[in-house]
Amino acid sequence: MSVSEADLRPVPVHGTEPGPDPRTMAVLRRERDALRDRVEAGDPSGVGRQHDLGKRTARERLDRLLDEGSFVELGMFRRRREAGPETEGRRPHTDGVVTGAGTIYGRRVFVYAQDFTILGGSLGAEHARKIHRVMDLALDAGAPLVALNDSGGARIQEGVAALDGYGGIFRRQVAASGVIPQISVVLGPCAGGAAYSPALADFTFMVRGTAKMYLTGPDVIAAVSGERVGHDELGGADVHGGRTGVAAVVHDDEDECLEDVRHLVSLLPGNNLEAPPADPPTGAREDVRPRLAEIVPVEPHRPYDMRDVIGELVDGGDFFEVHEGWAPNVLCALARVDGAVVGIVGNQPMVLAGVLDSDASQKAARFVRFCDAFNIPLVTLVDVPGFMPGTAQEHAGVIRHGAKLLYAYCEATVPRVQVIVRKAYGGAYIVMDSRSIGTDLSLAWPCNEVAVMGAEGAVNVVHRRELRAAADPEARRRELVADYRERLMHPYRSPEEGFVDHVIDPVDTRAALADGLALLRDKRRERPRRKHGNVPL
Ligand code: HXC
Repeated sequence: MSVSEADLRPVPVHGTEPGPDPRTMAVLRRERDALRDRVEAGDPSGVGRQHDLGKRTARERLDRLLDEGSFVELGMFRRRREAGPETEGRRPHTDGVVTGAGTIYGRRVFVYAQDFTILGGSLGAEHARKIHRVMDLALDAGAPLVALNDSGGARIQEGVAALDGYGGIFRRQVAASGVIPQISVVLGPCAGGAAYSPALADFTFMVRGTAKMYLTGPDVIAAVSGERVGHDELGGADVHGGRTGVAAVVHDDEDECLEDVRHLVSLLPGNNLEAPPADPPTGAREDVRPRLAEIVPVEPHRPYDMRDVIGELVDGGDFFEVHEGWAPNVLCALARVDGAVVGIVGNQPMVLAGVLDSDASQKAARFVRFCDAFNIPLVTLVDVPGFMPGTAQEHAGVIRHGAKLLYAYCEATVPRVQVIVRKAYGGAYIVMDSRSIGTDLSLAWPCNEVAVMGAEGAVNVVHRRELRAAADPEARRRELVADYRERLMHPYRSPEEGFVDHVIDPVDTRAALADGLALLRDKRRERPRRKHGNVPL
């Protein structure tokens, strides 16, 4: 059958002109706008209650998180297909979660924000499908995903469908892990299995006072074991920021928290195939920093704040520290050197003399793996007396946890620069990105001491019998210590043997880092194919 010209002509619908009647469209548009306005405004009493709790609404949060006017909402009119008696016939639009995309400093991100004013932000099947959709879009687009959590958890009335919805989120998070950055922000309750979503994210933020996260809430705990505990004490921001390590960043209020999420996003690539966003070079390669020669005491056991060293090395002294309150004996931070983003791992001599222990090893391991997955070069600042001795640490599994850090460095293929600032003893020397486990460039300050252990300890082990028999054991010990330092710990021993590439003047460290990173910028190293390794989880 052939198509005539008449068949292709637009068909008049309401009059003689082609196209719909403008008055009808005007009515439809007004209806649509009224519905949109109602959905956007939400239930005034719920909004009031949210504000009374010191929390912003989902939409207010997105306004603060995203560049002005950039939010594109998806699924605003979506809601449960059928009103069941179990939710008293309620079928609110959005189904309690606002989803879509926007920009942060001009770069695309996908977002979802749970709306506590609708059924307590609880996750039902439709709510979950909306989240699944933005997660799929984020992965397809290769853009970060930011989740704002404020929810009573699985929607009890929807039973297994709600649990299935969570499973779909977790499965997508794991599939997206190492492909797009995932940031989870807890701004209210996050109870039950829902807490596994922040736990699977790359970075989790929490706000003091309002955010709480636990698998089993205080009421159930009281019923099961009789233990009485408050929400905050059980799973508040300081618990997860300081004790469990689930929260990477903790803030006092939401606005400050969301601003900080923007800062973090500004340092991350959109996905694992992109380089992190670089700023123009800042002249770091010629930058001499006299303060670096004053911050670090030459005596190996005198404390100082490694943050002061980092502040001198990075552009503008500005760095984004993660897990500030958890395992503070090691520092992990993102920053820029000569405009390029780097991940910094540093021992912190101010806390526990900078030893590595179970928590510090896990914290640094996860950070190293994140940086490696997202093409962020690693700078490791070493001043470490060793691993923490004692039954508590041995029984806490310091061997297994320390192995995670070792594994993470050994596997990392991004450019890696090690700077031995002062001491580096024993296994901890190896683990802190030594030449033996694959650092690309090892630099050391002239006060470096690399050895199996400190001089006092070493003399006690090697010369125990001799010291016991000595006429003046103290004098003999001093001699032996001096001899050990001279022969085994002197700052040019490692460079002489090729374990360190160069001994640099501390004041030139920023410039040396910038040079080193430039030299390694195009590093390529293919890994042999395998399904995956068996990281000691
Ligand atoms: C359905 C829920 C809900 C839920 C809250 N609401 N949680 N509706 N399913 N899980 C509703 C309330 O009925 C109420 O509805 C409204 O949300 C606000 O809740 P309130 O209790 O009034 O608020 P508040 O006093 O601030 O307490 C918030 C809360 C509490 C601490 C979150 O609601 C709570 O304990 N909820 C249950 C938490 C929980 O156990 N969730 C299940 C976890 S198990 P109205 O109509 O009155 O406004 C889970 C499994 C996931 O999530 C498994 C994944 C693998």
